[in-house]
Amino acid sequence: MSMDINAQKRASAERAFAEIEDGSILGMGTGSTVDMLIEKLVGQSRIRIEGAVSSSERSTQRLREAGIEVLDLNSVGELDLYIDGADECDPMGRLIKGGGAALTREKIVASASRRFLCIIDDSKEVSQLGAFPLPIEVIPMARSLVGRAIVKLGGHPAWRQGVISDNGNWIIDVHGLDLADPDRIESAINQIPGVVANGLFTQRRADVVITSGRWREPSAG
Ligand code: 5RP
Repeated sequence: MSMDINAQKRASAERAFAEIEDGSILGMGTGSTVDMLIEKLVGQSRIRIEGAVSSSERSTQRLREAGIEVLDLNSVGELDLYIDGADECDPMGRLIKGGGAALTREKIVASASRRFLCIIDDSKEVSQLGAFPLPIEVIPMARSLVGRAIVKLGGHPAWRQGVISDNGNWIIDVHGLDLADPDRIESAINQIPGVVANGLFTQRRADVVITSGRWREPSAG
């Protein structure tokens, strides 16, 4: 019998839980799949979590409710393990993230971690990135400037109105970008003044992808 989407997410969260070692300081992503992992940490006795560096106010609140200490990245240095979901994942473990507007802190914590476990459901696996609109966090005064630069790159920007990131910025979702070479586009977007971060994770991609509980090491490239 096939699993529904929540069962797929839960299977991935549970497989990731098995990877957490006693006494760890974890990097924690954001989203419904990560929420399931945090739920799993409550009331279990296999491991003691030393603390977590959070990628969002949403995850911070859930971690605190779970009794896990939330630590400042500046005081912990490099992390062993970062666990997070994604909106799309290609065969090389390159990702689109930011559906929950947490992309900037997610990218920071992922980059500060030796190992990145990405936990997803079947719908997130794609052969090429780009059907999911690419989120970009922008400084509010630069929204139009960034939008015009995105049009020159071939994309169609849409302002996610009413959403303010945890950093006080705005989110643009870019439709229709050609992401055949996502590494190049990640770098190109980072060059636009006013861009804080974009949701392409190609330079810091996933080291392991767990899809509906199935473990996969991305292909090289
Ligand atoms: C938040 C993200 C999430 O990881 C992404 O949106 C996946 O979320 P979910 O686990 O709810 O499917 O990038 O900014």
